[in-house]
Amino acid sequence: MTNATSKPWTPGPEWKQVGDPRLFAPATQRNRDAILDVLRGALPRQGLILEIASGSGEHAIHFAQAMPHLVFQPSDPSPEALTSIKAWTESSGTINVQPPLLLDAMAGTWPLQTADAILCINMIHIAPWAATQGLIRHAGRLLPPGGPLILYGPFRRAGHSLEPSNAAFDASLRQRNPEWGLRDLGEVAALAAAAGFGAPEVIEMPANNLSVILRRL
Ligand SMILES: C[S@@+](CC[C@H](N)C(=O)[O-])C[C@H]1O[C@@H](n2cnc3c(N)ncnc32)[C@H](O)[C@@H]1O
Repeated sequence: MTNATSKPWTPGPEWKQVGDPRLFAPATQRNRDAILDVLRGALPRQGLILEIASGSGEHAIHFAQAMPHLVFQPSDPSPEALTSIKAWTESSGTINVQPPLLLDAMAGTWPLQTADAILCINMIHIAPWAATQGLIRHAGRLLPPGGPLILYGPFRRAGHSLEPSNAAFDASLRQRNPEWGLRDLGEVAALAAAAGFGAPEVIEMPANNLSVILRRL
């Protein structure tokens, strides 16, 4: 669900290779192991891990291979992303990744009823605020008590001036779409508190990113 002023995300040309349905997101190679370290400490011992905004699918494959005791459920609203996720799953032979779901965080209903953890990497600043609202509202409904919603990306934080690289990134996002832009961690935490989550655990990550772990109370 997008409104007339909101152009949805599409993969850039650097994500594509001629004749290959797999997308190659350059940042995933750089950030996937740092995120994996966070996931190892935050995810449950077993269960279904719903990934929102899986993009190319490279993260889901990497995490699933590293944590074979878990089942990953990738999702994305972009048809190109869904094709890529399927192609990565098949070509890598990874067996603990479910077929991707068409899922827009802003939609009134989501195509599944439960998840043991929810992961969302680099989405909330590159989608309208309604996507963050939808993500947190649905996560509050799907997750069991103690279940984590894990966000990763750049944020604004009260008392912290925006690093020059993040300020430039924020400006470029807003230029592409006025509804996009880095989100304020305090506003995200307030939304989560209203949806039944505890205070965020915040982990500083490389390249001025954060991992934010919100647990359902
Ligand atoms: C920058 S990419 C990040 C992809 C992947 N998580 C990564 O880190 O490589 C942004 C992703 O957000 C997805 N996205 C945009 N709006 C969305 C929405 N409303 N609900 C769910 N996903 C959305 C896009 O389709 C795209 O896959």
